[in-house]
Amino acid sequence: MFDAQSASQFVSLFRSTAPYINLFRGKTFVIAFGGKAISGPFARTLAYDANLLAALGVRLVLAHGARPQIEEELREKGLESRVHAGYRITDAATLDCVIDAVGSVYLEIEALLSQGLPDTPMANSRIRVVGGNFITAKPVGVIDGVDMQYAGTVRKIDADGVRAQLGLGNIVILSCTGQSPTGEIFNLAMEEVAEATAIAINADKLIFLSDSPGVTDSGGRLLDELTADAAERLMREADWLSPDIRRYLPCAVRASRSGVGRVHLIGFNEDGTLLLELFSRDGVGTIITRESLEILRDARPDDISGLVALIQPLEESGALVRRSRELLEREISRFSVVEHDAMIVGCAALYPYGNEQAELACMAVHPHYRRWGYGEQLLKRIETRARAAGVRRLFVLTTLTAHWFRERGFVEKTLADLPEEKRLVYNLQRRSKIFAKTL
Ligand SMILES: CC(C)(COP(=O)(O)OP(=O)(O)OC[C@H]1O[C@@H](n2cnc3c(N)ncnc32)[C@H](O)[C@@H]1OP(=O)(O)O)[C@@H](O)C(=O)NCCC(=O)NCCS
Repeated sequence: MFDAQSASQFVSLFRSTAPYINLFRGKTFVIAFGGKAISGPFARTLAYDANLLAALGVRLVLAHGARPQIEEELREKGLESRVHAGYRITDAATLDCVIDAVGSVYLEIEALLSQGLPDTPMANSRIRVVGGNFITAKPVGVIDGVDMQYAGTVRKIDADGVRAQLGLGNIVILSCTGQSPTGEIFNLAMEEVAEATAIAINADKLIFLSDSPGVTDSGGRLLDELTADAAERLMREADWLSPDIRRYLPCAVRASRSGVGRVHLIGFNEDGTLLLELFSRDGVGTIITRESLEILRDARPDDISGLVALIQPLEESGALVRRSRELLEREISRFSVVEHDAMIVGCAALYPYGNEQAELACMAVHPHYRRWGYGEQLLKRIETRARAAGVRRLFVLTTLTAHWFRERGFVEKTLADLPEEKRLVYNLQRRSKIFAKTL
């Protein structure tokens, strides 16, 4: 039974998932994981969570690998494991091991998703899982003079076939093998299957479960968001990335550039990462975002004219407080801007108050570029700058945009909640509403 406190925690937690449930229903996710995730301690709970997503109406494709299981088969048969240029050299004997290992991992996943014991999260589950000949493969060929034999790459995905199964409410399982029109079987890289499938079926999300919690910087800190360009630079420089991340990141970047809505890299070595990533505001892994014509960056002195052109009409309409050109020049380092095709189309500034508080001010997006997500990107940028400066509470004063901030986690406050220094200059005639967010 719940005591009063845990009952109220449960209720508010459950309610907080509603926006995500609404957002995800009917969306298509491809979830990709290697054989290690299936032999690890969280395979069972991963199946619970995949089943939960499917029950919530997410159209789910699971792409699995089987590297450790193939290695095990090879060891048992006394065969050598040979890899070249990132692909397994797959002769006929190795292919037999691949078929055995992949077949057994597939059956294991099918079994995990078919549980229904009364005291588990899968009680009453009625979701069907299907596999099939959805992947046409072609041989990798000869690389550096090495004949890769039955090592293959994806030639085509039967997107209509996969979509038809998803439309029936089935979970589609894709293995790391494919067939060629000549009737041969090829050993594929799971991450390439996942990438090609996510692109072919126009998935809303591609999620890689990896051996590390996400992409980290050289200091081991998790990067919660990376553009495709930044991820590519990192791949060239970073020798600290885990083996899975090394393999998955190039596929994540290509998928992102080919139109897959969001690509996530999260860990499989902890329980519930899939739910935490999907149902919490900040997530627990790394998201790769596509870059476009816009550049989000800190402002420079030569941006002043562009900034004035952007904010002057908003000052005149009363949406923003007036700032002189001189003030902008002095405070330019506090601004972040969005540049679109060499024009400043968005800006926001961060003003610290003491050590732990800061104001988000002068946030504006050019009317022609509204609803492109620039406002949201600027807010994230300012939050990142604030966090890096040790700020714990970000506040904003607004007359016209209260709801925009409320929808992004800000909570209405009173004058008494402002830092004293700000309270003293609060414009009583303007009667701005005060909002704050804990970072
Ligand atoms: C607020 C502002 C920065 C948002 O910029 P943006 O780039 O359009 O924002 P995003 O694209 O990230 O978000 C767009 C969403 O916010 C909604 N939105 C825009 N203005 C809003 C407002 N005043 N109240 C509530 N929601 C608002 C849009 O309808 C859209 O949601 P939808 O697609 O679900 O309909 C921009 O509207 C602006 O410059 N406003 C005038 C300046 C201002 O008031 N600044 C705040 C004072 S610091």
